[in-house]
Parts: sequence; C-alpha cells; structure tokens
Amino acid sequence: MTKLTIALTKGRLEKQTLALFEKAGIDISFMMDKQRKLIFDSPDRRFTFLLVKAADVTTYVRHGVADIGIVGKDVLLENPFGYYEMLDLGIGKCKFSVASIPDYQPNDYKRKRIATKYPTVASEHFRAKGEDVEIIKIEGSVEIAPVLGLSDAIVDIVETGTTLKENGLEIFEDICPVSARVIVNKAKLKRKRQAIFQLFAELETVIEREER
Ligand code: PRP
Repeated sequence: MTKLTIALTKGRLEKQTLALFEKAGIDISFMMDKQRKLIFDSPDRRFTFLLVKAADVTTYVRHGVADIGIVGKDVLLENPFGYYEMLDLGIGKCKFSVASIPDYQPNDYKRKRIATKYPTVASEHFRAKGEDVEIIKIEGSVEIAPVLGLSDAIVDIVETGTTLKENGLEIFEDICPVSARVIVNKAKLKRKRQAIFQLFAELETVIEREER
C-alpha cells in the first residue's frame, strides 16, 4: 500500500478535519490521545499525519515532506506557489473582511494604514480598488490595532464575529470567503496518484453529503 503523509493545520481546523476523515470512514482513533505528539502513523500504515502550524503546511508540501496538506484558503492566498490546490473541504468556513472602530471613515481621502497578518490579501484588495494604503504587518491580536491607533482599519478573518464585537470593531467591507483546502505536492501527484485520488473519492462523498 502506498503511504500518504498529510500535513494538518493544528488547532481549530485539525478537529474539523479529523471529524471529516472519520465521517469518510477513515479510522483516526490513533490520534485521539495525542498529548504533545506531532507525528502519527496509522496502524494500517495508510497514513502519516503531521500536526503543523497553518503557515508551515505549504512549506512541508512544497518540499515534498508531506504529500498532501490541509490548510485554510487564507494561508494559500498569502503563499500561492509550489503546490496544486485540489479540493475545497467545505469546513473551516470564515471570510476576509475590512473592519475598524465605528467612526472609521473608509471613503475620506486620507491614506489609510491597514494592520493585518495577511499583507498580500490586504494589498491586493486595496490595489484592485485603486486605493493606495500603508500595510502594517502584525502577527496576531490584530483587532486591537485600530483601537490603539496603530492603524485606521484591519484586514482579518472573521468567523463568528465575536472577536470583533468584543473589541468594539465592526465590519466595513467583506473581501472573500475562506474555507479549508487540500493541497498536493506537484511531483507526488504523479507518483502517488492512485492513493491520492482514492482519498479524494472518500472525502468527496462526505463533502457532497454535508453540502446538501
Ligand atoms: C482569528 C482571527 C480573529 C478570530 C476571528 O484569530 O485573526 O482574531 O480568529 O474569529 P471569530 O470571528 O470567531 O471571533 P486566531 O484565533 O487564529 O488567533 P490570532 O489572534 O493568533 O490570529
């Protein structure tokens, strides 16, 4: 049997991904008592799962250490090269939005400072609108940037909207929807084609069922 190495995004998405695998009839019980382990081999030797940070999933796939990666479209938009994007899993659904404090004036003529963890997405969004902005890259807790005056607004992912609300921000514009995607190493798609498409077929039955 051809073994597939799959890089999973640790945290929120990991749980949803494993639930999807389980619904597809794939035994993931060996990952349940995981403690601090980050590499898991399935007893049937079909899979090795790697638990890595979202931004590192594309790196492991690009270098061929992982055959497959499961990661949000938000991360792919920031790192768009060196893999094939193959499948939308329909989980981890959220969106990119522009948000700020209520008295933000998006249409005044001042050059805006935009704080974000996603500089490519943010600059592309404002470039497409013909608006010149200053991008301020920060690593997290982006919501406090306009409150403290570091920026005029933020570009960030919004899922439930709770983080915005609890920090007194509101959405001014939606940019695009985001969901979890399956990416594949380019060479491995040829070399492990059958095993990869077998897995896709199993996942697709669940995706179709959930979409209905
Ligand atoms: C993300 C995002 C928002 C939050 C949105 O942060 O950057 O802060 O989730 O979710 P909500 O709309 O359901 O409140 P994440 O948890 O990834 O942490 P971060 O601050 O490290 O980016």
